[in-house]
Amino acid sequence: MPEITIDMAPAAAMDEVSMVREILRLKEEMNAVILAHYYQDSIIQDIADIRGDSYELSRRAREVDADVIVFAGVHFMAETAKILNPGKTVLLPDLNAGCSLAESAPAHLFRRFRAMHPDHLAVTYINCTAEVKALSDIICTSSSAEAILEKIPAEIPILFSPDKNLGAYVRGKTGRQMLLWQGVCTVHEQFSEELIRELRAQHPEAEVIAHPECEGAVLRQADFIGSTSALLQYVVDRPATRFIVATEAGIMHQMQKRAPEKEFIAAPPNNGCACNVCDYMKVNTLEKLYLCMRDRTPEIVVPEDMRLRALRPIERMLEMAQGDEEAARRVLAEIPLPWKDAAIGMDL
Ligand code: 13P
Ligand code: SF4
Repeated sequence: MPEITIDMAPAAAMDEVSMVREILRLKEEMNAVILAHYYQDSIIQDIADIRGDSYELSRRAREVDADVIVFAGVHFMAETAKILNPGKTVLLPDLNAGCSLAESAPAHLFRRFRAMHPDHLAVTYINCTAEVKALSDIICTSSSAEAILEKIPAEIPILFSPDKNLGAYVRGKTGRQMLLWQGVCTVHEQFSEELIRELRAQHPEAEVIAHPECEGAVLRQADFIGSTSALLQYVVDRPATRFIVATEAGIMHQMQKRAPEKEFIAAPPNNGCACNVCDYMKVNTLEKLYLCMRDRTPEIVVPEDMRLRALRPIERMLEMAQGDEEAARRVLAEIPLPWKDAAIGMDL
């Protein structure tokens, strides 16, 4: 994605309180709703109308009754909201908010991967571009992957992209035949199994919780593995009072708010860096949130033919994750395999 520059000068003179006030005023004026992922800065999470993991944000984006969706998250998330809401304006504070997983799977290589395995069903993690979604059969998120894969008959081979760690984790849980794209999240792959073990020795009563994008060695250390929302719910529900958290640091703001009496220790990355912070998420700032609402830009645009092709795989995720076995059978029956035949005429 080309680097996009933003003129920050007009907002530089405003303090945080004035900016928040303006954001709330603009929200009313525009009939907008602010959606924020848990990895956003605390102040952005606090002023958002809806917070959630990727799955919840996709689901809620489809239900919102507003003219404008301001998406405080990364590009693929805002793009998904646009695919689900073609009639709404979707704004992203900074178009540079990418994702290492989405970048690891360019559409032309993914297309070749599919063509090499035409009998495989492509279940693709939502952390990918609209082009890749359009080339996939079913989208999934970290919170829905297991439920979706379990509804796919065991004899159907699956291509899982782009996160090899999430793929290996759900392959182990479901026993499905899965070929994995070799992408990684540059934040989650940094956690060190050895340092987590040392930390646990210092805090033997603490529970280790991890996002499934972490490497297998880290996941084996975890008492609980789940999406950002699942991790949040876990710390609220458990009697334990101390947790070692192996995911992006932004979630700890919500954990501290929802369970103020508990202690959250960030799991250490392997080289002492601050790599448990997603730089892509953090390119969105309060100033950029304000400016994007004031100027109604940058706006997410998805070409209509692409949007329509990407839409059905996302809808299939929502139907398979929420529905019963019969809903899953209906979804699977409409997917043409081998893929080679379905791909004829696609011009991406
Ligand atoms: P969640 O689906 O758990 O929100 O994860 C999204 C993500 O990008 C994690 O790095
Ligand atoms: Fe992408 Fe990783 Fe950042 Fe999530 S934490 S948005 S997977 S780079």
